[in-house]
Amino acid sequence: MTNTNNTAELSLDQKAALTSGAGWWDTVACPEAGIPAVVMSDGPHGVRFQEADADHLGLSSSAPATCFPPAVALGSSWDRSLAHRVAAALGREAQSFGVNVLLGPGINIKRSPLCGRNFEYFSEDPLLSGELGVAWVNGLQSQGVGASLKHFAANNQETDRLTVSADIAARPLQEIYLRAFRRVVREAKPWTVMCSYNRVNGVYASQNPWLLTDVLRDDWGYDGVVVSDWGAVVDRVKGLAAGMDLEMPTSSGNGPAQVAAAVRAGALDEAALDRSVARLADLAAKSGGGARPGTTFDPAVHHALAREAALRSAVLLKNDGALLPLDPATGGKIAVLGEFARTPRYQGAGSSKVNPTRLDNALDAITAMAGNAGISFAPGFTVDDAAESTSDSALREQAVALAAAADVVLLFLGLPASYESEGFDREHIDLPKEQTELLDAVVAVNPNVAVVLANGAVVGVSGWAHKVPAILEGWLGGQAGGSATADLLFGIANPSGRLTETMPLRLEDTPAYLDFPGEAGHVTYGEGLFVGYRHYDARAMEVSFPFGHGLSYTSFEYLDLRIEATDGGARLTVAVRNSGGRAGREVVQAYLQAPGSRVQRAERELKGFGSIELQPGETGVVVITVPRDDFAFYDTTVQAWLVEDLEYRFQVGASSRDLRLDASIRIHSEDYIAPVDKESNIGQWLSHPVGGPALLRLIEPVLATYRAGAPEGSPRDKMLMGTRLGQLAQFPIIPVTEADLDALMDLVSES
Ligand code: BGC
Repeated sequence: MTNTNNTAELSLDQKAALTSGAGWWDTVACPEAGIPAVVMSDGPHGVRFQEADADHLGLSSSAPATCFPPAVALGSSWDRSLAHRVAAALGREAQSFGVNVLLGPGINIKRSPLCGRNFEYFSEDPLLSGELGVAWVNGLQSQGVGASLKHFAANNQETDRLTVSADIAARPLQEIYLRAFRRVVREAKPWTVMCSYNRVNGVYASQNPWLLTDVLRDDWGYDGVVVSDWGAVVDRVKGLAAGMDLEMPTSSGNGPAQVAAAVRAGALDEAALDRSVARLADLAAKSGGGARPGTTFDPAVHHALAREAALRSAVLLKNDGALLPLDPATGGKIAVLGEFARTPRYQGAGSSKVNPTRLDNALDAITAMAGNAGISFAPGFTVDDAAESTSDSALREQAVALAAAADVVLLFLGLPASYESEGFDREHIDLPKEQTELLDAVVAVNPNVAVVLANGAVVGVSGWAHKVPAILEGWLGGQAGGSATADLLFGIANPSGRLTETMPLRLEDTPAYLDFPGEAGHVTYGEGLFVGYRHYDARAMEVSFPFGHGLSYTSFEYLDLRIEATDGGARLTVAVRNSGGRAGREVVQAYLQAPGSRVQRAERELKGFGSIELQPGETGVVVITVPRDDFAFYDTTVQAWLVEDLEYRFQVGASSRDLRLDASIRIHSEDYIAPVDKESNIGQWLSHPVGGPALLRLIEPVLATYRAGAPEGSPRDKMLMGTRLGQLAQFPIIPVTEADLDALMDLVSES
C-alpha cells in the first residue's frame, strides 16, 4: 500500500466513521488526516452520475453519458484491447464528472440463462470472464479511476439475491465461480472489490471471513478495499472483522456507532478497524492522486467507439445462402419489420441504466444507407410502454403485407425490457408469442428473412431458427447499436463476435435447470463443474449454437498449430488464412483436455484465445499463451491449486464444437502424493511412495497366498484393495496389530 495519510492520530470514532459512506455515492472525508472523500458511480457500461435524487435501482435520472454496449455484447467481441479502450473511455467520462471509482466490471458467471442480470456479465466461462475483466480494469484504472470488481461472489441469480445461500462444492466454487475474480485481482489489482448481497455456503458475503480474508487477501494477495454492495450489510461488526472495509451507502451513523461500540466492549479487535482504515486511506489517496479535474470528453468520439464496440460484438449465428450482407447498389425492396428497429432495446434495467448522450436506431441507419434499395417499415408488434393502439393482429397483417411485397425482410425481434432486469429472473427463454407468430406469418409469404435479435441473455431459437436463412444476434448494443447493425447488414463491417454463452435447444437442457433458483433460502449448485459448454459437452448434447460460435462474411482456414513449453506453461502458434472474399476478423480459441487426470475434468476447457484481422487471401499467426497456472485444478484434499504431471492436449478452432487442429504437450510437475491415513484403503496405501513399501513388508506373506487365488485386478483382489487400513488389524488371518498401523502412520507423517 502507498498510504501516506496520517491515520494514527485519529480517535476511535473518527476511524469508525470512515468505514461507512457519507451519502449514496461518496465516502466520509477526514481533512484532519488528509483523507478526501471518494466519489463512486455505477457502472459498468456507462457512467450513471446522479447529482440529486440518488438511488441504486436505476430509477432516478443521471447526467448524459455514453451508453457503451453492456457486458453481454462487449464480451462477445472476445477482444481484450476493445474492452481496454471502452473502459479507458469510461474512465475519461468518470473523470469529467469527478467520479473516482466506477462500479464495475461485473464478472459473475452466467450459470443459468434465466438470471435477470446476465446482460451485465461477460460469460459462462471463467477464463473469458477473467481475461475481459483484466482488460477492462486495466483500461479504467489507466485513467486514474478505480474499478469495483463485482459481485463477489456467487451472485448468479436475482431471485432472493439479498438472502439466498449459494451452496457450492469446493471445486466448482474455486474453478468456476471464484476463478475469474482471482485472475482479475491478481493481474489487474482493482482498487475495490464489491461483495455481493447473497450468502456463500451459508455465510453472507458481506461478513464472510473465509471469502473476504482467507481467499481474497491471504490466498490472492489483495490489498485494496472491499465495499459492500448497496445495502448488503447485515451485521456491520461481523463484516468489519471479516475484512469488509466500507459499508455503502451511508447507514446514517449506525454502522460506525456499532463498530466503535464493539471495539470499546472488546468484541472487535481494533487492529481490524485499523487495517480497514489504512486501506480506505489508501483508496482516498489513490482517488485524490488520480483525479484529473477539468477532464472533458467528446461525445461524438465516444459514440463512435460505442459503435465500433457494437460492431465487434454482434454474432452472426446463421447465414444460409449468403443472404447477408445486403448490397444497397443492387436496389430492390427491403421490408424492415419489428418495433425494435425503431425503438431499440440497447441496455438493461436497474442500477446500470445510463442516460445516453444520443441514441441510434437501426431503421434510420438502414434508411440512410439504403442506396438504391427501397425501404418500408412496419412495427409488427408492440413493446413495453409503446403508445401503439393498433391490435397485434392488425400490426401483423400490416407487416406481412410489406413482407410479401419485398425482396428481403429484416425482422427485428427480441426481449422487451420487462423480460429481463436487475432484481428478478426470467421464467423462460422464449421470445414473446406475438413475435414468433409474426415470424411465422412473415416466412409464409417471403422466405428471404434475416432476423436481428436484441436481448440481454440468450433466447430459445430452436422453435424457429430453421425457418429463416439468417440470424444476427445484436445483444443489447448500447447507444450506437442501431447504426452498427446497419453497418453489419450492409456489409460495411463484417461480423466477428462469438457466443460467450451456449444457446441451448431448450431451457430444460440447461445445466442448472433442476436447481435454479433454489428454495427455502438455498440454491444448490448441483451441476458442479459442469456449467455452460462443460455440461453440454460432458453429456454430448445437441445445442442450438455452441459456445464460441459466430460466423463471418468471409471464411478462415486453420493451417498449422505449433506448441512449445514456456515458463512451465505452453505457447501455441496458430496459422490462419482468410480463404474468402472479404476482410474479416477471426477469433481463435484454444481448449484444453487432460486425459488421464486423476480428478473429474470437463471434456474441454477454454484456456486461451486471440483474434486476427486478415485481408482476403492473407495468412497470419495468432499466438496464445497459456500460463502454468491455467493447467491447475483445485485439489480439495490439500486445499490448493495443483498442476498434474500429464500429457495435455489442446484443441484449437473457431468454436467449442468447430475444432480444427490439435497438439499435445507434456507439462511436468512434481509427483503429487495423495495423503493416506487409517481411513484410506489398501490400494491407496500401496500407491503411496513411503507407506506402500512399508505396508507391503508387513502383509507380504499373507498377500502372496491371497494373490495365488486372487490375482491382481481380479474381483477378489479389488475387494482387498478397497479394504480400509484400519480394518486389517481386525482380521485374524492378517498378522498386523494396531501398533503396526500406528507405526505406519508415524512413518508417512514423517515423510
Ligand atoms: C447493485 C450494484 C450497484 C449498486 C449501486 C446494487 O443494487 O447490485 O451492482 O453497483 O446497487 O447502484
